[in-house]
Amino acid sequence: MKEYESAAWRQGMRLKINYNNMMKSALLGDGFTPEEIQAQPLDRALAAVKAKRDQLKWMELPHDQAEVVEKIEETAAWIRKEAEAFVVLGIGGSALGPIAVHQALRHLNYNELPKEKRGGPRLYVLDNVDPERFAALLDVIDLKKTVFNVITKSGSTSETMSQLLIAVDLLKRTVGEDISRHLIATTDKAKGNLIKIAKQENLTTFIVPDGVGGRFSELCPVGLLAAAVCGIDIRELLAGAAYMDELTQNEDTLRNPACVLAALQKTAMDRGMNIHVMMPYADALKYVSDWYAQLWAESLGKKFAQDGSVTHAGQTPVKALGVTDQHSQVQLYTEGPFDKVVTFLAVEKYRTVTNIPEGYADIPDVHFLSGHTHNELIAAEQAATAYALTKSGHVNYTITLPEVNPFTVGELLYMFEVATAVTGELLGIDAFDQPGVEEGKKATYALLGKPGFDEKRAELAARPTENPDYIL
Ligand code: PA5
Repeated sequence: MKEYESAAWRQGMRLKINYNNMMKSALLGDGFTPEEIQAQPLDRALAAVKAKRDQLKWMELPHDQAEVVEKIEETAAWIRKEAEAFVVLGIGGSALGPIAVHQALRHLNYNELPKEKRGGPRLYVLDNVDPERFAALLDVIDLKKTVFNVITKSGSTSETMSQLLIAVDLLKRTVGEDISRHLIATTDKAKGNLIKIAKQENLTTFIVPDGVGGRFSELCPVGLLAAAVCGIDIRELLAGAAYMDELTQNEDTLRNPACVLAALQKTAMDRGMNIHVMMPYADALKYVSDWYAQLWAESLGKKFAQDGSVTHAGQTPVKALGVTDQHSQVQLYTEGPFDKVVTFLAVEKYRTVTNIPEGYADIPDVHFLSGHTHNELIAAEQAATAYALTKSGHVNYTITLPEVNPFTVGELLYMFEVATAVTGELLGIDAFDQPGVEEGKKATYALLGKPGFDEKRAELAARPTENPDYIL
């Protein structure tokens, strides 16, 4: 029996949310009142999310992937044996999840470890088309021992398709026409071009299910394959998400973690706090902030409400890292405008204890650290930063992970996804489309001459000419 099958263990791994520092009781004049939180129509918002559940297939991912998980594990097993490098080609939701989960659950210097300690290939995620990026990759991989995983839900994103063209060309010139042991496709079952290419090249293919948008896709093959290839227990990751699914169905909404987060953030937005800082106190969780930034920004940043009225909703996510950004951004958070909510991600038990040794007994200002641990220091710094923010009247709350493990990371991601969906309902917008992103994609197609985009090309050509006075 796996430990996560025990109810007591699961309970011990439950994420804790402490929002005292959002409330009047701690912040005095500036804090929220319980009435303000309760005034958010959480019952209606949660009911609306539940009613859409048969379309929101990402909500079922923790439960309905038994066969997919087996296929992923089989595929991961041969890749772990054969490959020296595993390269994800993808962008946005096709890249941020794999990066976040890998950073959270593998060694912080994973790629630098010797193969026997890694147990699997090195991982690279190419989520940009900076011309120097691919060239730099080629300097450190051996194509004959590399497996690429091209991921695009739409099967047509320019960045990803350009990377695919480069990878296929290189592979064919290096390993020959049959590239099926070097390229895996993850895409929609029918839409887009990647599925056609996958069939043509006879590639192992994983499907992004309908109703699973890019930023909600980490817990489907988009994220699970890279995780399994790097030796992460994907069943435990899904078990953590399933546990959170249970907690976020609670109709006692003020005991429901996703609803509480949604209510806090929406109350903040109502008060004009249009910035949301995500600040993990763990290097392992650093890229959870990047993943969250896309989830929060792309889901909630909308011009139109569901009723068609213009709303310009949204809250700008900001990524920060404790303690690093205490020496960069925290001055602003403590003394600057009252326009932001800070969410700390704390960890109760880190995977390592680093002792601070005895030294310089003659210099008390250094010696006071001796005998403590980095674990104590980082916890004290997080508590101290929360205190300083609270004292200056700036709202903040802390989400604590008992440990960073696949189960708690599964919980965390799923909780943020449901919180985003509930917040979308509170804002009255559609959290699952991204017309702003699509507009940029179409303009790129037009600029690069994709067939069928003549009208967009004409629209771009008709832009006002640039005024040379404004160019230095
Ligand atoms: O959340 C989304 O849908 C987007 O941000 C996509 O993840 C991103 O644009 C990449 O799209 P695709 O996976 O279709 O290549």
